Amino acid sequence: MILSRLDILQVRNLQDVRVVCHPEANVIYGANGSGKTSLLEAIYLLGRGRSFKHRDLRLVISEGATELVVSARVERSPPKSGYQLGVKRTVAGKFEARLDGAALQSSAQLVEALPLQMIDAHSFTLLEGGPLQRRQFLDWGVFHVEHGYSGLWKRFQKALKQRNQLLRHGRMDQDSLSAWTAELTPLSDEITGYRRDYLAELSRHALEAAEGFGGLGKVQLDYYQGWRDDCSLVEALEASRVRDIATGTTNVGAHKADIIIKVDGVPAAERLSRGQVKLLVYALKLAQAAHFREKTGRGCVFLLDDLPAELDYQHRGQVVSCLNSLECQYFMTGVDRKDFESLVDGMAHQMFHMEHGVASEG
Ligand SMILES: Nc1ncnc2c1ncn2[C@@H]1O[C@H](COP(=O)(O)OP(=O)(O)OP(=O)(O)O)[C@@H](O)[C@H]1O
Ligand SMILES: [Mg+2]
Repeated sequence: MILSRLDILQVRNLQDVRVVCHPEANVIYGANGSGKTSLLEAIYLLGRGRSFKHRDLRLVISEGATELVVSARVERSPPKSGYQLGVKRTVAGKFEARLDGAALQSSAQLVEALPLQMIDAHSFTLLEGGPLQRRQFLDWGVFHVEHGYSGLWKRFQKALKQRNQLLRHGRMDQDSLSAWTAELTPLSDEITGYRRDYLAELSRHALEAAEGFGGLGKVQLDYYQGWRDDCSLVEALEASRVRDIATGTTNVGAHKADIIIKVDGVPAAERLSRGQVKLLVYALKLAQAAHFREKTGRGCVFLLDDLPAELDYQHRGQVVSCLNSLECQYFMTGVDRKDFESLVDGMAHQMFHMEHGVASEG
């Protein structure tokens, strides 16, 4: 997937930015506050239907404006089989997404139309934060390679919600609880199966990517399914019934899953330096991109915010050459042009200078 052109209207300080994107390396440099992250934010919005920074999309709309619009031409290989993708969000809260003019019904359709990977200063939370981010990371991968996963996930969420509502209700109707438990367990097991298979394949790529960076140690990814390994979910739910009723929520199941990330047998977040944690996050995301390419033959679009501030010179070079070999299009930002000059030397690329919300080539 490649963005060939990108039009941004009223996203943060970007009033009207129209760029012809390079199919491989795009560098956006400029002073603090010039609008570099906002450009990545606009692309992210197009591919995810949400902001990576703000829960409230109103904050992303330029001050004083009533709506934001981001649209792009997305090219697939072979060229000329692409489509026009667009999103619009009004201050009143209306969100619209379109593909070649036709309205999309869910953000899952956007995610499918534009497979994106984003890495910024907060990405270390993939290792150091709570399990939600690791589940989202895992589900991104499964979603892109298993058709029907998003439908399965929605059915699971619905069954979980119903069961939790019943648990919170107070007047416990055993038959209804058993009915929702019976609905939930096969869905949870199916999700677990997909995730396990995916993680097993991803581990191979993660090991390779981490080894490529050198010095990170032997990376190991294990799946915690959301309940004890030595019993079935039915048994785990039975064992958790009193607690579930007391807390008014379902305490075991696929919604509690996690990835246990270790390096040389020790939890990665405890073993690695801050810079190495970041490197491992790059390795994990590059591994996803490698797996995605292997399965679909397609590349994802990478957004790398403030790359020079995140990694040392040698590792920046490794990330860039990895992205090139995966044939990914990428957008990387930084304050100084000179930080990128030697990085992209001899490589096809496009530089954009961002100044006060205006992007110009060169
Ligand atoms: N809703 C908004 N409307 C207008 N401007 C906004 C809005 N939200 C943020 N801004 C401004 O947009 C500008 C660009 O922010 P952005 O984060 O894109 O800068 P940047 O180039 O990434 O800077 P840095 O190098 O410091 O990371 C900032 O000055 C910010 O205050
Ligand atoms: Mg920034």
